[in-house]
Amino acid sequence: MTNNELLSLAAEAAGRAYCKYSGFSVGAALLCSGGRVFCGCNIENGSYSLTNCAERTAIFKAVSEGFTDFEAIAIVGSADGDYSRPCYPCGACLQVMSEFCGGGFRIILSDGGHTLDELMPKRFGL
Ligand code: THU
Repeated sequence: MTNNELLSLAAEAAGRAYCKYSGFSVGAALLCSGGRVFCGCNIENGSYSLTNCAERTAIFKAVSEGFTDFEAIAIVGSADGDYSRPCYPCGACLQVMSEFCGGGFRIILSDGGHTLDELMPKRFGL
């Protein structure tokens, strides 16, 4: 699975975003070791704080299906369908990635590949 293939799956997932309040669509495609991919979109709620980000949707889908070893996640987001500008994951999603992934976990955005260590160098851990 190439970075571009994962980004395309993320863009497809962004098309399913439920974002009637912000109008900002986000899609994520999570690559598990072994090759399985779980996709997710943001799912908003009229009680705004209950919104779930695309990344966490994908991760929670995977974990709930018994997959906890992850290699990479591709993320796209935009308000107008143009995914050329990078959509960086929020701190909450980075912290959830950190629960399951090491610092070398790859975070693929439209500006290239990053790592969890790069985007959240000092993170909470028990
Ligand atoms: N959002 C995500 O899906 N992922 C992030 O990492 C940050 C933000 C969503 C939440 C909300 O539905 C919309 O983007 C605007 O904040």
